[in-house]
Amino acid sequence: MTDRIRVFAPSSASNLGPGFDVLGLALPKLGDMVEAEPSVTPGIEIVEVTGDGGALTRDPTRNVAGIAAADVLRRLDGLEVGAPPHRGARLWLHKQMPLASGLGSSGASAVAGAVAVNELFAAPLSRHDLVASALVGECAASGTPHADNVAPSLLGGIVLVRSCDPLELIDLPVPTELRVVVVHPHCEVSTVVARRLIASRSYALDDAVANLGNIAALVDALHRGDLAQFGRSVRDRLVEPVRAHLIPGLAEVKTAALSKAALGCSISGSGPSMFAFAGSDDDAQAIADAMQAAFHDAAGLESEAYVGPVNREGARRVE
Ligand code: HSE
Repeated sequence: MTDRIRVFAPSSASNLGPGFDVLGLALPKLGDMVEAEPSVTPGIEIVEVTGDGGALTRDPTRNVAGIAAADVLRRLDGLEVGAPPHRGARLWLHKQMPLASGLGSSGASAVAGAVAVNELFAAPLSRHDLVASALVGECAASGTPHADNVAPSLLGGIVLVRSCDPLELIDLPVPTELRVVVVHPHCEVSTVVARRLIASRSYALDDAVANLGNIAALVDALHRGDLAQFGRSVRDRLVEPVRAHLIPGLAEVKTAALSKAALGCSISGSGPSMFAFAGSDDDAQAIADAMQAAFHDAAGLESEAYVGPVNREGARRVE
């Protein structure tokens, strides 16, 4: 027990409107915990998964935390991709957030697994390498590589993913007064299904141009702390319209948020959670209340709301 360490990785909101697969931020409250201890048996063993209602496998070759952790072992051993590691670790994964929620659940598990195993062996890997390992796990869950959940979960703050291959991440400034609201309605959206929906389509050039303008303006607004411009830029003409039908009450929830001075509102990741931004704690709470009421009234859905500043810390070891 003395050698066992614990790591918490926060949930995340990705896309942030126009930035499909390239923008994400770490959320303030929910997340996953992984406990890890060294093992004399090479490779990863998942001893226990709690909090998942039995939905997740303990097979380390199919569980995102196990896959990410195994990639860390491989890097620690200096081995080629796919080579069996020399070192070993036992993991306990504690799910502390809903599955298929759009809040980066698989990403948080992958990050917690990767960071925990690195910590277990005196933390020689860089944060960049750890994001790369977590990305291997996330890719197994969603079917395609995208780092807009794992990068902010691990690094904290708001992250721009310029490229996944090679991995290039850019930390964006977080205005002090910015608050984020996420509302999770009690329904599920499969990321794999939501990605399949958008993968096989053609997109109009003017919609692509609108999103490009919004991403550029959003990044500029963060650098200048211009919350009004930031809010105007949280608009997505490519992905949200295609996925909207997956989220009952989306239009009403968005209208409710914007009626309470939200600085933009859109789908968190692949949904069903919705996020909004605010410029104060009071506004954020009013927006959260309005969004929850709209989910209830328009779609008969109960929900949870989480409100707070962007989590700047990211994944961390806890006692
Ligand atoms: N950017 C991803 C998507 C996030 O929207 O599919 C989901 O994990």
